[in-house]
This record gives sequence, C-alpha cells and structure tokens, in this order.
Amino acid sequence: MAMNIESPGNIDPELLSKLQRITSLAALNKKGKLICKIAGKQLLVLQTASGVYVCNNRCPHEGFPLSEGTLNEGCVLTCNWHNWKFDLETGETLIGGDSLRVYPVTLRNGEIWCDLTDPPPERARSRVFLGLEQALAENDYERLAREVTRYRISGGDPLDLIRFAFGWAHEKFQYGITHAHAAAADWLMVYDGLLGTDDPDTLIPVVEILGHIAWDCKRDAGQWEFTQNCETDFSAIALENAIEEEDENAAVAQVRAAIKTGKETDLQLALARVSLRHYQSFGHSPIYVDKVHELVARFGSCATDIFVLPLVRSFCFGRREDLIPEFRAYGVRLATWNGRGSVVPAAETFRHAGVPRALALISDAAGELDALDDVLMEAIAGAMLYFDGNLQNAVDQPVSNNVDWLDFSHALTHLQSARKLAEVQPDLKPNAYLQCGCFLGRNSRFVNWNQNMDRWKVSDSEEFFRNAFYKILDHGEPFYIYPAHYLKFTCAVQQEVRLKPTASWVPTLLAACNRFLNEPIKRKHVRRTIMQSRAFVEAQGF
Ligand code: FES
Repeated sequence: MAMNIESPGNIDPELLSKLQRITSLAALNKKGKLICKIAGKQLLVLQTASGVYVCNNRCPHEGFPLSEGTLNEGCVLTCNWHNWKFDLETGETLIGGDSLRVYPVTLRNGEIWCDLTDPPPERARSRVFLGLEQALAENDYERLAREVTRYRISGGDPLDLIRFAFGWAHEKFQYGITHAHAAAADWLMVYDGLLGTDDPDTLIPVVEILGHIAWDCKRDAGQWEFTQNCETDFSAIALENAIEEEDENAAVAQVRAAIKTGKETDLQLALARVSLRHYQSFGHSPIYVDKVHELVARFGSCATDIFVLPLVRSFCFGRREDLIPEFRAYGVRLATWNGRGSVVPAAETFRHAGVPRALALISDAAGELDALDDVLMEAIAGAMLYFDGNLQNAVDQPVSNNVDWLDFSHALTHLQSARKLAEVQPDLKPNAYLQCGCFLGRNSRFVNWNQNMDRWKVSDSEEFFRNAFYKILDHGEPFYIYPAHYLKFTCAVQQEVRLKPTASWVPTLLAACNRFLNEPIKRKHVRRTIMQSRAFVEAQGF
C-alpha cells in the first residue's frame, strides 16, 4: 500500500498496539529493497518513487522470492519465474491465479511499521471460497491444493469445499453426472481412513475430487441451468415416465417436488428403479445412483438437488444398449424371468458364453441367486484376470471390437451397486443379475484363457490394499478417468473381499485387481482412431 506518513497522535490506538517495526527508512534507502524476517514471515520491503511497500517475499504461485522480481514505475511487481504480476498499490494480482499479501505501511520517526496480524480464521476461510471458485473455473490444480491447505490450516473442514464445489458445478455438467461424482464417494472413503493422522496424503482425496470437478466443467465449458419448475407433489411414476421420455424439465420438476415435500426416500427408490429399468449407459446408471446416495448421506438432504439434478439429466441423456442387437436378449429374458430356475452353472460355463447364452445361464439359476452371485463374482474376476491385453492395442478393427480394461472393471462395480439397490427393492434383482450377464457375455469375446497369470497372485490381501491405495493416492495420471476407475474398482474389491474373505473367488479377484493396477493401459488410441475414422468416411462418402 502507498506510503502512509502519520504522527503517533493520529494513529488508531488499536492499530498502534499491533504495529511491528520492520526496519528503518535509512537502512531501506541504502539498498532500495530489503528482506526482513519477522514473526515467522519473510517480508519484502521496497523503496519506490511512490513510497514504501511491504509484501510477502514468497510468490504465491510456487514460493520463489519476489525480491528477485522486477518492479516497474507503476508499482507493478513481476515474479520472474513465471511472470505473475502484482499491483503493490491495490494488492491486486494482475496476471496469475492467487493473491499476494501486501501490508499497509506506517512511517514513524524514520521507522517502517506494519500490522502483520493474520486475519481472523473466519475471514481467512471465507477468502478461500473466492480463490476456490477461481481455481475451479480455471482448472488450476496447484491453486486448488493451496486453497484446500489454507482452509484446513485456518481450522475449516475440507469437506465444506467439496460441498461448495459440487454446488458451484452442478449446472456446468452438460450431460449430467460424471465420474467426478462417482469417484468422489470413494475418495471420501479413503479420506475417512486417513483422518486423524498427520499424513500429508490426507488432503489428496479432497484435491482430487475438486480437480476432477474442475476438469469436467472445463471440458463441458458452459452453464446448463435446470428448470425451477416444481410440481405440487411428487409422483415416482411421473418421474420415471419423464425420464423414459427424455424430458428433463418434467423430471426435474418432480425431483424438486420430492425435495420440497420431504419425500427424499421415495425419490431414492424411484431413482434406483430408473437406473435398473434398462441395460443402459454401459451399466453406469446403478453405479451413479449408489454413489449419489452415498454423497447425499454424507452431505445431508440439503445437498440433494446438487447431486440428484445432474443424475436425472444423465438419465435423460442415457444410452439404451438394450435396444441394440447385441443386448436385445436382455429385454426378452427380463420379460420371461420366473424366479424359479435352480440350475446354478459353474463359473467356467460363462467363459465362452456370448450375451444370449450368459443371460440364459442366469435365468436358469433365477431361484438360487445367492449361489449365482458367487458364480458371477468368479466369472467376472476370471474374465478380468485373463483379459487379452493385446486387444486393447489392436488398431485395424471395427469400432464394435474396441475394448479396454474399463469394460471389465465395470462388470464388478456394476454388480456391486446393482446388487445394493436390489437389496432394498428385491423385484429389481432380475434386472441386476441379467445386466451382469450383458457384461459377461460381451466381455467373453476379449478373453484369452491360455495365459499364465501366476505372477499376479496376491498372498496378503490387507498388505495388497495398503500398497494399492498408496499408489492410487499418487497415481500420476493426467486424465482423471483412470485413477477414478482404479479407485472405484479397488474400493469395490476391498469391500467384497472383506465381506466374504473365504469365498472361492477371492484369490482370482485380488489377482485381477493386481493386474489392473499394474499392467500398462493404452490411454489414447491415435492410430486406431484415424483408421476407424478413415474406414467410416470412405464407406459413408460425403
Ligand atoms: S513462482 Fe512466481 S510466478 Fe511462479
């Protein structure tokens, strides 16, 4: 701030009591700038034609010394490391994404004085929300990390920031809910496990959630507002019909009615039904409903709208795989399900079963769902462990043969979520298990059972999970989609294994998880995309 010369008599007594001597004007005049270490702070004191300025010496970007920066005649200080610019007069950051603390200066009897008192924690915390919003909008991961740290240090609960970020973002997801939501529920579970420790990793889940939200919003780059219309009362049937007709406004008006009339439980049940009504959106629907339930349970019913409205939007945009030839048998098997079949197949029976055969096997075991569940777990785990990894690298093939690890990981996460939802509404069990058959049937084409997978065996499951989460926390992946799936899958495996530690499928599932986390994944298909695009355009013409 500009030089402020006052006689002692003019100074507010309260301010006077807080002032600390920084240095003398004579000392500053000799050098033009000084670095002073006072009360744990490293301060930069600058002599300019406009007066004396005092600011933090560490650049708010990456902490390099501003004393090595460049000051122009307009009192703009440039950090020469990455060219951030600060107006010392106003304290404004002109270029850059964080603010520099500039201290008002008082000159008394040839001495430079400043009030170095930190703002009260409430003010520091409220400032974090301003910075957080900017960091989210700019998808600035480092600043997100700094703001989360500031909030924590000033006594705030970092979960406040997550709640804020989802509220800020909920109308910025063009097609509704994303993996940012699904992964958030699992990141929060990891966060719970680290709480109470002094482990610096504690803040990773929070920053990853915020970073994923920012990434997805930046990708969608817009604002898609939900209608404010609200029905007078909630009707589950009307909600289901609105979603079936892809009528987002009508569906949202139902959601708002459920919230307004306190019928959140009915709303949750209806959403679970919608999510399993069809084999849709590559099985994401029940996973998203399950994770949204977890998020609402954690953040409270006052946050229902920020999670459920994007969920409903994603349903309205959902893909109906049960309408395409490959999965058409799903609807037929669902319609003829009688719940009486008692022939429980061996897991190996699924090895070469396409979708119709897999669905038939499941229907034949319809009266033995507990036993069938173990068989499906074994079949899912086996297919994933023996996935023919070469096929993810193939380039000269039709789009319908594109396959990667996530086709296999979703088989488990889908079954887990669908099973949970069907526990509450048992008439959804046929949907849950038949959809599992859709995964198994399609994936059977991409498995090579003639591989030696001994190297992926896990001897100590708890040690494996410790190491797995340690690695996931510092995943190093530039795209959020992969760590989100590593996390979701590993959390699901851990829950399943802890629930049934002696089940026959446990060793296979652990080995599959081990392979998934440690075998290279092809993250971008450059040549395949070009070849498939060329084949399409050449066949299609103009
Ligand atoms: S450290 Fe100052 S701009 Fe990067």
